[in-house]
Amino acid sequence: MPKLIGINKINIAVFISGSGSNFKNLISYSFKKKSNYKIQLVISSKATAKGLKYAKKFKIKKKIISYLNKEKAEKDILLALRKNKINLVCLAGFMKILSKNFIKKFKGKIINIHPSLLPKYKGLNTHQRAINNKEKYAGCTVHYVNSRLDSGKIILQKKVKILKTDTSITLKKRILKKEHILYPKALKKVLINL
Ligand code: GRF
Repeated sequence: MPKLIGINKINIAVFISGSGSNFKNLISYSFKKKSNYKIQLVISSKATAKGLKYAKKFKIKKKIISYLNKEKAEKDILLALRKNKINLVCLAGFMKILSKNFIKKFKGKIINIHPSLLPKYKGLNTHQRAINNKEKYAGCTVHYVNSRLDSGKIILQKKVKILKTDTSITLKKRILKKEHILYPKALKKVLINL
């Protein structure tokens, strides 16, 4: 892939499955004067993902991928990425696990946001597990995606104090707010090195 310099905007695809608040937030940042990326495409594993409304609102091309057959799903995704000349993939609440083969084809060019202080609490239900274990802090992490779940190189992290009164819902809300600060920051860092 050629080095991306000058006035060319870097083409990004965001992958979602749900509410898409991170997607919306990355769109807002892409409209800032200094931004050097453009969200060219959103891919959703769910036709009903609420976040798809932002694609409509901000006129971003969307592609809904059926996961009935994973191999075919990933072929379709790769095709869409190539067609749209995508340089970087940002996972934001994408609930499907990408295959080793797929990750290899886009090596070093897929990042993810995860709601825990990795390497702690990989996988699901991170907020409740942190509360159950009486952790002092929870948080969020942006990391590169490799073939092991939530295990790629960490780009940035933000700590969030767990309050005595926290439920998984209140903690999730507070962490999500921090995610919206962290993801654009981490993206900036990644784009400089792309
Ligand atoms: C976020 O908590 C993110 O860390 C996790 O999935 C959630 C997605 O939220 N991977 P949203 O769809 O961006 O609102």
